[in-house]
Amino acid sequence: MSRVFEERVAMITGASQGIGESIAQRLASEGCNLILASRRQEACEEVGSLLAGEDIETLAVGMDVGSLDSVVASVDEALERFGHIDFLVNNAGIARDNLLVRMDPADWDAVLRTDLTGVYNCTKTVLRSMLRRRSGRVVTISSVVGLLGNSGQTAYGAAKAGVLGFTKSLAREIASRNITVNAVAPGYITTEMTAGLPEGATENLQQKIPLGRLGVGADVAGAVRFLLSEDAAYITGQVLSVDGGMYM
Ligand SMILES: NC(=O)c1ccc[n+]([C@@H]2O[C@H](COP(=O)([O-])OP(=O)(O)OC[C@H]3O[C@@H](n4cnc5c(N)ncnc54)[C@H](O)[C@@H]3O)[C@@H](O)[C@H]2O)c1
Repeated sequence: MSRVFEERVAMITGASQGIGESIAQRLASEGCNLILASRRQEACEEVGSLLAGEDIETLAVGMDVGSLDSVVASVDEALERFGHIDFLVNNAGIARDNLLVRMDPADWDAVLRTDLTGVYNCTKTVLRSMLRRRSGRVVTISSVVGLLGNSGQTAYGAAKAGVLGFTKSLAREIASRNITVNAVAPGYITTEMTAGLPEGATENLQQKIPLGRLGVGADVAGAVRFLLSEDAAYITGQVLSVDGGMYM
């Protein structure tokens, strides 16, 4: 792989596993220095040590995206180490699924705090460094559920649709500063989040996916990598679906 991201610094939230880890692997393979952030600092350190052969610098930070104080402390630590942040990948997310009539207010709050307010907390905090340098890229991981809706996922769907409005509004707000803001909307990707699907559900799902298979983390990582690259310099405010054709 060519090292197109050499000297660049990316912060990936939710980098300890799943899609975030796949994004970390892809960017590392192209020379990008990484700030690996999630609630589980030790797991991020492990991901960092697996990337040791890539000749990049990594910093693992324990951070709760739902807490502005926690985000500010982690971003300060990262800026002290690297001096700036070129790319922010808002990937951290949770799902707490239930029919609306049974949905506990605490679950609603947790999903909105992590999946929507978390994107506000991280983007607002990292943006200062990007604005100063008049350069930067923000990519937020939404979901096909934010576009299509899904029974049992009102909270998740609201948060994932919310980040699309956030993306388009912010893209307009800071386009003049040479900062692009885009979203990726994955379909069903094989990770811990989808591991709990009931028996038979995977086969059912496959029938609804035109490309006939669930996605893998690398499918999403390739789209993120594109949006961070120079090839995407003239693309902002867009939602790139990576869902095997579920939403078209
Ligand atoms: N797996 C899928 O099918 C799928 C589909 C569409 C969108 N997504 C989205 O992709 C993203 C990653 O999903 P995944 O499948 O890899 O999930 P995952 O559960 O495997 O990983 C989630 C990551 O987010 C981190 N995280 C959760 N809450 C956090 C918090 N408050 N602060 C900091 N970190 C936190 C976890 O520690 C973990 O690193 C999520 O935003 C998810 O909604 C996933």
